[in-house]
Amino acid sequence: MNPFQTYDARILEVKELTPREKLFTLRFVDPEINKEFTYKPGQFVIVDIRGFGEFPISLCSSPTRTGYFQLCVRRVGRMTKYMHTLKEGDIIGIRGPYGNGFPMEEMEGSNLLLVAGGLGMAPLRSVLWYALDSGKYEQIYLFYGTKSYEDILFRDEIIHLLKHGEAMNCRVKLAYEVESPSCIYLEKGFAPKVCKGVVTDLFRGEEFDVENTYALICGPPVMYKFVIKELLDRKLSPGRIYMTLERRMRCGIGKCGHCIVGTSTSIKYICKDGPVFTYWEALSTRGLI
Ligand SMILES: Cc1cc2nc3c(=O)[nH]c(=O)nc-3n(C[C@H](O)[C@H](O)[C@H](O)COP(=O)(O)OP(=O)(O)OC[C@H]3O[C@@H](n4cnc5c(N)ncnc54)[C@H](O)[C@@H]3O)c2cc1C
Ligand code: FES
Repeated sequence: MNPFQTYDARILEVKELTPREKLFTLRFVDPEINKEFTYKPGQFVIVDIRGFGEFPISLCSSPTRTGYFQLCVRRVGRMTKYMHTLKEGDIIGIRGPYGNGFPMEEMEGSNLLLVAGGLGMAPLRSVLWYALDSGKYEQIYLFYGTKSYEDILFRDEIIHLLKHGEAMNCRVKLAYEVESPSCIYLEKGFAPKVCKGVVTDLFRGEEFDVENTYALICGPPVMYKFVIKELLDRKLSPGRIYMTLERRMRCGIGKCGHCIVGTSTSIKYICKDGPVFTYWEALSTRGLI
């Protein structure tokens, strides 16, 4: 499979996750391409809507589940709005996978602390299912901050893990900002794992074996500073903190220069060197976070 070529993929299913986000399940039309297509959690593809334009989207499914892949698309502008009109059976172009992804092999045998805010749950869902399916990690924590009950992405999966996660060494905690009867119901059922507040409130009372834990963060830019503070306060080393970052992109392959950050001493292409970076890299590259 040539990662620079665009291949046709058919939409197998469209599921409305929230009023703003839809989950697209896709399969390449060519069975050979479908067989060859693999990726790492944290990588992304470029969606090509013929005659309309291209845009990057993270793979939110896990490569452990073969034969299809999934994209969670928030409707924000021209192209994502168009994508939301597509139906089962429609065909779009896909190229990739691109980017470095999370170093899943390096982290084997360790605890994973996934910290997601809003749409950041999409790439971290890929990590979550990869870790659960492979069984190669110690304890998995997922701290997820959402605006409201209606905004919880993959709600059924999150509720399933709130109920049964411990049996799979997976501890899920959820913070919501806007109160509603559904949230209060969740909080009653799963206290103290569900609470009103922001994602950093979920760190209260939690200690981690910092020598054996990696933190993986994805969320809105404002979240990073506060989450990183919680992690550094617990003495997690900057090299064990991974963040996935977003910038406006065009080519996705390090050719157009659209996503460059840094200065002459340290330049990074978000599309090629990232989108996953350690906090250590962020400290030495101006403008990364
Ligand atoms: C590596 C990567 C992974 C991504 N993964 C996902 C994903 O899994 N799901 C998802 O819904 N979106 C994801 N995005 C963002 C997605 O690419 C943009 O939302 C999309 O390009 C917007 O296109 P549009 O034509 O609909 O909006 P436009 O009309 O281009 O823009 C509408 C609004 O969205 C903002 N916007 C556009 N692109 C971005 C961006 N890259 N980052 C932040 N704000 C942006 C604009 O500033 C504007 O306010 C990802 C972006 C990158 C770079
Ligand atoms: S998007 Fe073109 S160089 Fe990164």
